[in-house]
Amino acid sequence: MSVLPFLRIYAPLNAVLAAPGLLAVAALTMPDMSGRSRVALAALLAVIWAAYLLQMVATLLKRREGDVRNRTPAIAIDVLAVLVPLAAFLLVGTPDRSLYCAVWLLKPLRDSTFFPVLGRVLANEARNLIGVTTLFGVVLFGVALAGYVIERGIQPEKFGSIPQAMWWAVVTLSTTGYGDAIPQSFAGRVLSGAVMMSGIGIFALWAGILATGFYQEVRRGDFVRNWQLVAAVPLFQKLGPAMLVEIVRALRPRTVPAGAVICRIGEPGDQMFFLVEGRVSVATPNAVELGPGAFFGEMALITGEPRMATVSAATVVSLLSLHSADFQMLCGSSPEIAEIIRKTALERRGTAPMASPY
Ligand code: CMP
Repeated sequence: MSVLPFLRIYAPLNAVLAAPGLLAVAALTMPDMSGRSRVALAALLAVIWAAYLLQMVATLLKRREGDVRNRTPAIAIDVLAVLVPLAAFLLVGTPDRSLYCAVWLLKPLRDSTFFPVLGRVLANEARNLIGVTTLFGVVLFGVALAGYVIERGIQPEKFGSIPQAMWWAVVTLSTTGYGDAIPQSFAGRVLSGAVMMSGIGIFALWAGILATGFYQEVRRGDFVRNWQLVAAVPLFQKLGPAMLVEIVRALRPRTVPAGAVICRIGEPGDQMFFLVEGRVSVATPNAVELGPGAFFGEMALITGEPRMATVSAATVVSLLSLHSADFQMLCGSSPEIAEIIRKTALERRGTAPMASPY
C-alpha cells in the first residue's frame, strides 16, 4: 500500500505543531485559567495528537513498504508522541493529564540533522571532555574540602559537612553565586575568588573543546562533499594524492540558478571555476556552451586583465571555484595541468571579444 501524501507531516511541521502543544501544556498549569480556555487548549492538544497519530501511521506504513533507512529513533519518537498522551488520558486524573504531552519535546529532534553532528562531536572529543569533567570533579571536591575546613567553625549550618560545602563549591565554581552560602572568613573569601577564576577557566575549556569539535566536523563534511565534486572534474585526475587533498581543501562549491551571471565581461577576476554539473554559456560572438568537467575564468587569473566575456548559467549549475593564490599553487605543483589551462586559454583568446594578449 502506498502512503498517501496527506499522511506525511514533514520535519518543520513537527516543530510547528510541538510549539503550540507545549505552550498549551504550560498554560494549562496556570491555576487561574478559565474553564472555557481550558477546554480550548485541551481541544488544541487533541488536534495535535491526531496529527501525530497520522504521522505515526505514515511512518509505520513506510517501514512496511521497505524503507531501508535506519529510522528507529524517528519511529520511537512517533510512537511515544501518540502512546504517552493516550495512556495519560486513559489512566491519569484530569489536572495532570496534559503534562504527559510534554513528550512532544522530542518531536523537533526527530528529523534534526544537528543532533547526529552533536553525537559525532561528543564521540570524537570524548577523551578531552572526560578529562575536563574529571578536572572539574577534582577541583570541586578539593574546593568543598577547603571550604569545609575554613568555614565549618564560623558557619556550621552552611559548611558543617563536605556535602554541604559542595553546594557552595558548585554555585561558586559555576560563577552562579546564589548568595545563600557566603564565606565569612578572609581565607574563605580568598578561596572563593580563586574558585570563581578556576571555574571560568574550566568552562572555557569545555566551550573550546566543543567549538573545535564542531569546526572539525563541519570541515570534514565539506571535505567529503568537495572530494565527490572534484572526482567529477577529469582535469584533477592528473593530480597526485597529496596535491588532490590540497585542492579539495582549496576549492569552494557553489550552486548557481539557471540564467544567473557567474562572471561579467570587463570585471576584475580573482577566481576561476570548474563545472561539475549543468551547462554555462559564454557570450562570445559565436556563443559557446561549456558542460561538466570544463573550466572557465582562467584568463583573468593568467593575464591579470578584466574578464573577457560574460559567463552565465544555461541550466542550474554546480561549480567549484578556485581563488587566484590557490590557482598559482595548483599550477606550481602540476605543470601538466598548468599547460592544459594555458593552452585552452590561448585557444579561447582567439575567439573572445576584447581580446587582450598576454
Ligand atoms: P575570463 O576572461 O577570466 O572570464 C570569462 C571567461 O570566459 C574566460 O576567462 C574564459 O574562461 C571563458 N571564455 C572566453 N572565451 C571563450 C571561448 N571562446 N570559449 C570558451 N570559453 C571562453
